[in-house]
Amino acid sequence: MAIIAPSLLSADFLQLQADCDMLNKSKADWFHLDVMDGRFVPNISFGPMLVEFFRKSTTKVCDVHLMIEEPERYAEAFKKAGADILTVHQEACTHLHRNIQQIKSLGMKAGVAINPHTPVELLKDILGDIDLVCLMSVNPGFGGQAFIPHTINKIKRLREMIDEQLLDVKIEIDGGVTLANAKSIIDAGADVLVAGSTVFKAADPIDTIAQLKKIV
Ligand code: DX5
Ligand code: ZN
Repeated sequence: MAIIAPSLLSADFLQLQADCDMLNKSKADWFHLDVMDGRFVPNISFGPMLVEFFRKSTTKVCDVHLMIEEPERYAEAFKKAGADILTVHQEACTHLHRNIQQIKSLGMKAGVAINPHTPVELLKDILGDIDLVCLMSVNPGFGGQAFIPHTINKIKRLREMIDEQLLDVKIEIDGGVTLANAKSIIDAGADVLVAGSTVFKAADPIDTIAQLKKIV
């Protein structure tokens, strides 16, 4: 059964408490929190202050996706804010191994995200050090974009790499996940489905999360 991680980027920011309450009641496993700096991606979202608010509003896992340059400057602040998993972008880290060690030494799980153009093979020598790979299935920056079909191929290749090395690394798919494509994503080998607009634009978000959870 996949881990369902609704992305709060698509929530109603004037009613965040209500949206948190809804997710807490739902079968959602993780809160996916998208941090954007307006430099690594062409959009600005929120920082540690809001992550702290989410932390206080849930006991579920806070999965923080940093779409920022120089993430080492903020890792400690996100730990203090209550992040359980901290994911950095491979494309933003010249010294990725150092970034991962920093995240782990702060006591968080470490994830690496890659953009649609980045081959999964580039992660071969870091896979043994991390807990999660976030495969971007859209170009990061905005919710509500269409799933890039080539991602399916990347999931299969990454699954093989993880299994070959007998590792316990989760594959998270982020962007354009819908009720219609979730099964093919899971069949390809994904463990975690991020879903923003599919959940928050649904007439019944709790039911939509339950339907995603049922897909095997
Ligand atoms: C995009 C973010 C995603 C986004 C997903 O840069 O990383 O987490 O919120 O939104 P949907 O599910 O609407 O594509
Ligand atoms: Zn994300």
